[in-house]
Amino acid sequence: MSEILGAKNLCKSYFDGGRELRVLRGVNLKINKGEIAFVVGPSGVGKSTLLHLLGALDRPTAGEVRLNGIDVYGMRERERARLRCLKIGFVFQFYHLLPEFSAWENVLMPALISNKGQRAAGKVRALELLVEIGLRDRVHHRPSQLSGGESQRVAIARALINEPELILADEPTGNLDEGSSQVIMELIRELNEKRRQTFVIATHQEGLAQEGKDRIIQLADGEAIEE
Ligand SMILES: Nc1ncnc2c1ncn2[C@@H]1O[C@H](COP(=O)(O)OP(=O)(O)OP(=O)(O)O)[C@@H](O)[C@H]1O
Ligand SMILES: [Mg+2]
Repeated sequence: MSEILGAKNLCKSYFDGGRELRVLRGVNLKINKGEIAFVVGPSGVGKSTLLHLLGALDRPTAGEVRLNGIDVYGMRERERARLRCLKIGFVFQFYHLLPEFSAWENVLMPALISNKGQRAAGKVRALELLVEIGLRDRVHHRPSQLSGGESQRVAIARALINEPELILADEPTGNLDEGSSQVIMELIRELNEKRRQTFVIATHQEGLAQEGKDRIIQLADGEAIEE
């Protein structure tokens, strides 16, 4: 199996008034193409911090992130932004939807930025995704008119629109009821099987992972431990 994503001795500290908070203290991991990996651990352990670093959204204090063998933080900012846009889908824990735009436009946005497909095709695909995750009646709503769970689903659709090979999802079902969570997990498994898209999912919800099938990576004391 070939590696799509890797971290080597990844460290991240936050500095607060001269005090150092060492969140990640040398994370090593390797995700293969086509895997579904769960990053688990208690609140505050550093799951979001790790996902942001893996998604080329932040800078590590030390260490390395590789995407398809390329050192993500060794490249220029512009190149990294382009890589992020084309190869990575990111579902933020707190959605980060653009408030001035409708659900449909929010989902379409990455397709417009990447210029990957035709605008018309992107619009159709965005709508399909919204329907698939149960938001048929919410496509013209703005984020302020959506519930937390609806916003979360819009954020998921947005991460999928460009069909990135890697999707990093930070608590993607954190605000959803059992039924909606299941729909999301089924969609993720379907995309994983049909398109071989790789998923790394941070969660504190036990039961999303299928034992014996998915990877489970436990974060503890700033390090990653494989179960
Ligand atoms: N920008 C920041 N500045 C200072 N400290 C931060 C910053 N971001 C996160 N932290 C701290 O780093 C630690 C890890 O935060 P992180 O958000 O990665 O945890 P998490 O595992 O995702 O938690 P949760 O399950 O609640 O989402 C926490 O103690 C948090 O307070
Ligand atoms: Mg978090």
